[in-house]
Amino acid sequence: MPDTSVTEPSISCLEVPRAAALFGEDVDGVGAYNLRVGDLVAVMCGLLGFGARETRHWREAAALHDLGKLWIPPAILLKRGPLDQDEVAVMRDHAVLGHARLGPHDHLAAEMALYHHENHDGSGYPFGLVGEWIPMSARVVRLCDVYDALRAARPYKRAMSHEEATGVILFGDDRIQPRMFDPELLRLFALHHQRFAACFDR
Ligand SMILES: [Fe+2]
Repeated sequence: MPDTSVTEPSISCLEVPRAAALFGEDVDGVGAYNLRVGDLVAVMCGLLGFGARETRHWREAAALHDLGKLWIPPAILLKRGPLDQDEVAVMRDHAVLGHARLGPHDHLAAEMALYHHENHDGSGYPFGLVGEWIPMSARVVRLCDVYDALRAARPYKRAMSHEEATGVILFGDDRIQPRMFDPELLRLFALHHQRFAACFDR
């Protein structure tokens, strides 16, 4: 009898193409942005010593971390300019919405979606979890997502160079502080930041 207790992640054949198609180029490159975060997460998986199969799963799951944005009203999602307090609250719902949608399909993807805005110092959302209360998968996505966001141009901000983005992550600015990130992941990023640059720029 074959062992049927081990199942392949089903996410790659169902959700990545759908999410990529729905986000697409018409939403300010959000689709590409999500797939790139998956690639950056795969770089960190390599630094953590993951095998090929686990790395593939993390890459595919991480690409879906913002899937919940599909349920955010476009007037807020695509607003050119800062969000007001109410709009920020709606936007933050994307973590819970993504988790609810992904939960039946893939535990890892759902976990990344729910916790990817939690910060190591407890300053994140939706729960304000601290340190190891945040799943490792979401800690990895958090660092890679911030790097990607800093490097990417948005309607309301310019793209940073790799050197600028690395400086912000390692030394902080008015919005980002190093204490927001898992210290071990931050150490690996500091040692190997050129690998993230190579991934982003390819
Ligand atoms: Fe997000």
